[in-house]
Amino acid sequence: MCGIVGYVGNRPLIDTLINGLKRLEYRGYDSSGIAFIENNEIRVIKEVGKVATLLKTISQEIENTEFSATGIAHTRWATHGEPSHRNSHPHLDSKGNFAVVHNGIIENYAALKGQLMAKGCKFNSDTDTEVIAHLISELYEGDFLKAVAAALKQLNGTYGIAVISKFHPDMIIAARKGSPIVIGVGNEEMIVASDISALISYTRKVIYLDDNDIAVIKKNEVDIRNIDIIPVNRELAHVDWDAGAAEKGGFDHFMLKEIYEQDSAVVNTIRGRINIEEATAILSGLGFNPRELASISNIIIAACGTSMHAGLVGEYFFEDLAGIPTEVAQAAEFRYRNPIIRPDTLVIAVSQSGETADTLAAVRESKNKGALVAGICNVVGSTIARETGSGIYLHAGPEIGVASTKAFTCQVITLLMMAVKFGRSRRLARNRAIEVLEEIQNVPALIKETLKSAPEIERIAKKYSGIDNAFYIGRGYLYPVALEGALKLKEISYIHAEGYHAAELKHGPIALLEEKVPVIALANDIPGKDKILSNMQECKARKSPIIATATIGDLEVQNIANDVIYLPRCSEYVTPIVTVIALQLFSYYVARERGCSIDQPRNLAKSVTVE
Ligand code: G6P
Repeated sequence: MCGIVGYVGNRPLIDTLINGLKRLEYRGYDSSGIAFIENNEIRVIKEVGKVATLLKTISQEIENTEFSATGIAHTRWATHGEPSHRNSHPHLDSKGNFAVVHNGIIENYAALKGQLMAKGCKFNSDTDTEVIAHLISELYEGDFLKAVAAALKQLNGTYGIAVISKFHPDMIIAARKGSPIVIGVGNEEMIVASDISALISYTRKVIYLDDNDIAVIKKNEVDIRNIDIIPVNRELAHVDWDAGAAEKGGFDHFMLKEIYEQDSAVVNTIRGRINIEEATAILSGLGFNPRELASISNIIIAACGTSMHAGLVGEYFFEDLAGIPTEVAQAAEFRYRNPIIRPDTLVIAVSQSGETADTLAAVRESKNKGALVAGICNVVGSTIARETGSGIYLHAGPEIGVASTKAFTCQVITLLMMAVKFGRSRRLARNRAIEVLEEIQNVPALIKETLKSAPEIERIAKKYSGIDNAFYIGRGYLYPVALEGALKLKEISYIHAEGYHAAELKHGPIALLEEKVPVIALANDIPGKDKILSNMQECKARKSPIIATATIGDLEVQNIANDVIYLPRCSEYVTPIVTVIALQLFSYYVARERGCSIDQPRNLAKSVTVE
């Protein structure tokens, strides 16, 4: 959630840290700060608000910002302590010898704080992070690494940290347990970050830390140890995302850019994975042998947020095409409800970032219980991707907008390819599989076609941008899309919106309908359309304005709805994709009309790495 960047090398430090922070701002952003070593002392500058405000303060406080030094920086998404100057990172120990930035939660911080205060440490914030700085300082006897390792041993909870010390101006120490840390290896420079987007403009060579790793980072070397200071080997990986992918590329917002790049994202997701000849999908990353595939008795999809909605679409795919009983578990709940895992249960963790704490916990729980586990992730090398060992990357490119768009589309496509593959190992007929695979190949064209409706969607969005409440209704494959459409509107426009199964609306929510509460009805021409037309009539009878999605050429829908978004004809398997794109655009234009902060909505974080 919070973003971390650290730099050791010869580049101008402020520029490098600020660039990194800007790339990470989407992760969390109530305050930010930097710390660096200047004349053998640590200097800290922090500010409440966005990185641009921090930069302004830095320019006021430092005359020449072109110097090189070792430094760390942070953007914060508050967990302990309100967003304020004193709670912003970096945090110092009482003597100002060590500065720490941290992502995660230290669960035993209150007890540690009590002990440290008894020893005379003076605390300057309400954060859990500050205890780390004081602990390191208390344990320091001349060996920086030893002090950090000893401090970390006392912590319960999760952390990704970067620490600098005025006694060791040539190094940063970084460590992780539960929160990601990646080191970018450059030529005579190293950049450490919580997310590769902060470093891809400098280098593509990276080292991912594992839990309990501690890295001593100098400009020419990285020395990685475990918590007992025993050396460990971590491979150098290559990141294939290009730096330009993390730029807006002429669009006003990352969200709009990411909506518009969904056709190419899907091309990348399906590249080399469709085999019409064999009537199957090639998903070698899964690594399951035919016996394992055929013996899967049931599937549990564990995910959060938008990824969970993609999982709900996947549930229909697996049951419909492969005949495998499937359920979707909200990942946080999965662990606490004692899920029944049989030896042939497959748990699929769906996560764009591959770092969502609850989804990761579900992966670990499933492995402990002996399930087969696979991941569907976008971020290469992310924790879930690595811990599942088996899985499929989306290859959708970096998703920066907090409201997930292209990841959803690519997750749905990936789940569809999986269902075809699993179905072929059991009951799915060759011809039917080929039909679905050909339709998948046609998705990029369908997306392009859908995007042509943007001006009409913008017009409708403007008309309804003043609403306070909305309902989204759908059935069958469009039921999860109703949930996702409502989530998109809530996330970026702050309008209260609820997604409901169209039939369920009658069981309570219908009491809320009136002329100021529009209903967005997903009435595309797929099985169940007749029933949703009746549901629309029920809403209309309660005076709700109806906005509908419908298949091009459909005249029935326009007789009931006040406004119609026409979408290309396609089978029910890919309707979720064309429909969700219309709803993404609708939310985007509503939020823009309301002047909301689209890429960085209030209170949200791109990657939720706390439980
Ligand atoms: C956060 C984001 C959502 C995302 C969810 C799950 O809440 O704001 O957009 O869907 O986390 O994230 P994941 O990376 O696991 O897909």
